Amino acid sequence: MRGPSKGRTLEAIVEFLDLPPLLGAKGTVRLPGSKSISNRILLLAALAEGVTDIYDLLESDDVARMLEALGRLGIPWSRREGRDDYQVQGVGGSFPVKAADLFLGNAGTAFRPLTAALAFSGGDYRLSGVPRMHERPIGDLVDGLRQLGARVEYLANEGFPPLRIEPGHLTPGGIVRVRGDVSSQFLTALLMALPLAGVETTVEVVGELISKPYIGITLDLMARFGVEVQREGWSRFTVPGGQRYRSPGTIFVEGDASSASYFLAAGAIGGGPVRVEGVGRSSIQGDVRFAEALEALGARIEMGDNWIEAQAPAEGKLKAFDLDLNHIPDAAMTLAVAALFADGPCRLRNIASWRVKETDRISAMATELRKVGATVEEGADYLTVTPPARLISQAAIDTYDDHRMAMCFSLVSLGGVGVRINDPKCVNKTFPTYFAAFSGVTRPVPVIAIDGPSASGKGTVAARVAEALGFHCLDSGSLYRLVALAALRAGVGLDEEGWLAGAAASLDAEFRGDRVFLGGEDVTAEIRTEACSAGASRVAAYPAVREALVRRQRDFRRPPGLVADGRDMGSVIFPDAERKFFLTASVEARADRRYKQLIEKGLPANIFDLSQELRIRDERDASRPVAPLRKMPEAILVDSSAMTVDEVVVKVLDQARPSV
Ligand code: DC
Repeated sequence: MRGPSKGRTLEAIVEFLDLPPLLGAKGTVRLPGSKSISNRILLLAALAEGVTDIYDLLESDDVARMLEALGRLGIPWSRREGRDDYQVQGVGGSFPVKAADLFLGNAGTAFRPLTAALAFSGGDYRLSGVPRMHERPIGDLVDGLRQLGARVEYLANEGFPPLRIEPGHLTPGGIVRVRGDVSSQFLTALLMALPLAGVETTVEVVGELISKPYIGITLDLMARFGVEVQREGWSRFTVPGGQRYRSPGTIFVEGDASSASYFLAAGAIGGGPVRVEGVGRSSIQGDVRFAEALEALGARIEMGDNWIEAQAPAEGKLKAFDLDLNHIPDAAMTLAVAALFADGPCRLRNIASWRVKETDRISAMATELRKVGATVEEGADYLTVTPPARLISQAAIDTYDDHRMAMCFSLVSLGGVGVRINDPKCVNKTFPTYFAAFSGVTRPVPVIAIDGPSASGKGTVAARVAEALGFHCLDSGSLYRLVALAALRAGVGLDEEGWLAGAAASLDAEFRGDRVFLGGEDVTAEIRTEACSAGASRVAAYPAVREALVRRQRDFRRPPGLVADGRDMGSVIFPDAERKFFLTASVEARADRRYKQLIEKGLPANIFDLSQELRIRDERDASRPVAPLRKMPEAILVDSSAMTVDEVVVKVLDQARPSV
């Protein structure tokens, strides 16, 4: 079992993350704390009388913004060294600092509730965030606060942050109307702030309230801090007067149920069972109902008080679905990607709130799902996803500074294809160790990398090992040979890097069994000629040529596994290979083998010339600046000078088998 490990957060310099194709998912994940619960508890603890010890608080950007803001508003808090446990000294009412400029990033769970609480604090405050935060509506909340006499002004665009809050003439009591059909956070914010007014006030929700379970979390946590709210359905909420928040002393943050969705989906898609710990039957988070949605897709779900486990359907494939997902808007994104693995078109309905989240999630989801081959229909409040017959491998997924886009799309790799996640550090918003946790419960398609100099016998050994294991085989040298052949045929010089790179990128090559085709023509013998061998070694020295062939080589990594031979298999193309070998032999032994092969074929051969040729190629392959031939420290050295092919194959299989 591996949980989200500390210290493995992604640095700002990481531009993308290439996830390998995966064979399946199985294992247990300990979830990080819930974002929604963490930020609500922090605010309530700050406003409460007494000291609150908070355990398992989420460590993430959004929570950091809330902690920072509370500090600036005069709330003393401290963290237990090396732990996710905090102590907050409540002030028993409004904030002590009466003037502050607060930057809240893109944290909606900090921005909305703080706006409401500050409107009741009688000070002069400015609240701003990142540009996307300034595009996320807040007008409905401000309208509600103004009805109570709060003075809130828009500093840029009407209806959107940044905001200025000044002391108003508060007239709480009576009825406040607030819209509930854009974001449930407006209602959450008002409800959490109303006990500060001290007078009975009723909130009436205008329009159909969305994301109701999030209001459930709010009411539950307010109750734990001693404030009761009377609820009539989901349209009227009354906060009786004379109530104050009181610290419950100690409080635990549940695991994040939205974060659980990626792992549960991984279990449903990738075999499983995958178990998440930290949420379960007794959770107060609505997103645990994601498990029911997965069940509707045929997944097998089990649940305990504090854990949930998911396995693939007995029939293997997930069933197509048509679901109203209004109650689980965040976890629903995971279903949009799970739809890629369903047995027919899937519809996600009633998800209009996606449009005002970290990004316009309906549009972002549609764009990125198309990149992996899905057919997507996008509506104002729905998506229809038709899975492709075959996923497109190595799509580069844009994440729109939206943590959930990044986490959702990691699931694509369970389709046995690689996927690139651009700007992966956006997961820091809620789950900084997400990718480490994901790799902890998934198993990559294994690769056995066999690198070594020319004529060391790699090709033969790789083919035999692949056959024995039932794996695919990549003879990467043949790609460089094909580029050289294309140039020779076109009469282009082997120093024309631009042309060569273009040819490499658009190479019309095909591999069928042990035959190699260029433009439909069988060139198996021709690429083995000395002209192509020498040419390949030269074209392989150009960075642009190598770059153009990376993706094509990685495409060979498909279930159940790959044996790849070349010069840089273990160092550049598959650095995460399960097993790496460095196969070599003395120049004399290699020249001798080559000599015998040529003589057998009735071709002229001279052992001295062959040795010279090999030395020159070895030197060029090993001394070039890009991807030079070298033994990786972790590679197993096999010197075949005095070994037969059979002996080498047995040795490689012996060393490789336990891990593949
Ligand atoms: O393995 P081979 O002899 O078929 O390779 C032909 C040439 O291609 C060789 O001189 C080095 C180059 N090559 C490479 O640079 N990187 C690889 N992964 C494979 C081959």
